Amino acid sequence: MLRIRNFTPDDLEQVCEIQRACFTEPYTPEFIMNIYEAHGDTFFVAELGGRVVGYAAARVISFRGHIIVVAVHPGFRRLGIGMALMLVLEHELRKRHAMEVWLEVRASNTGAMDFYRRLGYVEKSVLRNYYSDGEDAVVFTKLL
Ligand SMILES: CC(C)(COP(=O)(O)OP(=O)(O)OC[C@H]1O[C@@H](n2cnc3c(N)ncnc32)[C@H](O)[C@@H]1OP(=O)(O)O)[C@@H](O)C(=O)NCCC(=O)NCCS
Repeated sequence: MLRIRNFTPDDLEQVCEIQRACFTEPYTPEFIMNIYEAHGDTFFVAELGGRVVGYAAARVISFRGHIIVVAVHPGFRRLGIGMALMLVLEHELRKRHAMEVWLEVRASNTGAMDFYRRLGYVEKSVLRNYYSDGEDAVVFTKLL
């Protein structure tokens, strides 16, 4: 059964493994621990049969929620895990009085863009050269 719960430091290794499998520039363990220390209340993992298969983190800045990251292990995609994580995050952001949520996604990441559209996000703007390799970011937003 899928369980969404808060991240704990014991999850660090599994989260880092998923990061490496998902991203060309994965976060360092130190960066992931920084997210936990600053935004642990809005940092969730998805656990399936005792294994961490996905995670998502957000923060609130001036009544706006920002999705920092969402990722699902490649072996467990298209099972609704990403959506379950996002819905929990949005619920937590609403509880913290966020009225809108935004996120950035690589311009080439069309799968993730379809995922966000499915969740009701709309394309807002493009940030040129946003990533360190020069790729643009597309900003998506959703009213909560
Ligand atoms: C984006 C990501 C988190 C989606 O996770 P997921 O668990 O596979 O997503 P879900 O199963 O909840 O998908 C829900 C719906 O979103 C859409 N969707 C999800 N992934 C999609 C894809 N690759 N292509 C097109 N539509 C997609 C579909 O409508 C899907 O419903 P369906 O499977 O019934 O068609 C996952 O692909 C991932 O980890 N990608 C790598 C990391 C990443 O790009 N993160 C986001 C940028 S920060």
